[in-house]
Amino acid sequence: MTHPASILLTGGAGYIGSHTFVALAQAGFTPVILDDFSTSNRAVLNRLQRITSQPVLCQQGSVADRVLVHDLMQRHSIAAVIHFAGFKAVGESVAQPLKYYDNNLGGMMALLRAMERTPCRTLVFSSSATVYGDPASLPITENFPRSHTNPYGHTKLVCEDMLAAVRESNPAWRTGVLRYFNPTGAHPSGLIGEDPTGLPNNLMPYVTQVAVGKRPFLNIYGQDYATPDGTGVRDYIHIQDLAQAHVAAVQALLKGADSFTVNVGIGQGHSVLDVVRAFEQASGKPVPYRFAARRAGDVAQCYADASLAKRLLNWHATHTLAAMCADAWRWQSNNPDGYANEPASV
Ligand code: UD1
Repeated sequence: MTHPASILLTGGAGYIGSHTFVALAQAGFTPVILDDFSTSNRAVLNRLQRITSQPVLCQQGSVADRVLVHDLMQRHSIAAVIHFAGFKAVGESVAQPLKYYDNNLGGMMALLRAMERTPCRTLVFSSSATVYGDPASLPITENFPRSHTNPYGHTKLVCEDMLAAVRESNPAWRTGVLRYFNPTGAHPSGLIGEDPTGLPNNLMPYVTQVAVGKRPFLNIYGQDYATPDGTGVRDYIHIQDLAQAHVAAVQALLKGADSFTVNVGIGQGHSVLDVVRAFEQASGKPVPYRFAARRAGDVAQCYADASLAKRLLNWHATHTLAAMCADAWRWQSNNPDGYANEPASV
């Protein structure tokens, strides 16, 4: 009998990493987490153990620690890496650009250097629809021009370029670049979900915190965009679908597929007001809101053409906005303070 392939998840204790951990375990892989817990909580490990009924392999440490990453990869005979570890707050990246260049570029660089010293040349990278800047038309296909409007977006773009350069230098590298649109929702168990530190930047965690009574109202940034109801339109995708996209990406690369870059979205836009209404419906809770000024750097509309991922990976999203809201609410109402106050063990 052959061993299940071990997959290293840098930043595996975070929102997307933890859901992908479960999806990989359920698909028969052995996921191994590397996380420094700078923006995640060790308590997630208990929850992962409860969901998967398996011991959770986790190493605390930084992806920038080349020696540590190399040792971890050798110890677990890692077959592929999914690189989630990175900072993602746009506003913070403008205020502290070096923190972003250091962590996001330095982390990727160290990881690639560590991988070079192992037999593993298979890497899936968490990129973002932020690389499209303000798209000239919709829906967005992967060959649209890339641009950036802040240091965070710049780091995603440079990481994509680094991967292109290593592929060019050595065709043994197989990379899957996943450009995430707007991940939302939570595992249907309500045991794991999004747990932002401080004031949420993103829409859904803000909405859930209003519904649970932690914040008085939602600010809707802009009501005069050129969209059907004047509020911003995004491609919200259920975190469970996003997790499955990682499984599909790893499976394809391990079977010898060529490197790829794909959009990971549902291929449909929803406005802020659509989200508020769908959430009220799913939760039975009111979400009071006020219109506020546009947020700097926001675009009116952003949604994917998701057909390339379907064609290359045979993956497509299946969850509706209603399911995203219902699952986000289950997580938030069962865990009003996220992972805080939970004893950390494992
Ligand atoms: C944001 C980032 C993007 C990053 C992604 C993941 C910006 C400009 N973009 O995407 O680069 O990859 O998060 O971290 O920050 N909204 C409100 N009220 C709120 C929060 C959001 O009205 O309190 C609106 C926004 O104006 C937007 C929509 O909700 O129309 C979605 O916002 P958000 O969840 O922050 O995602 P993006 O802006 O698409």
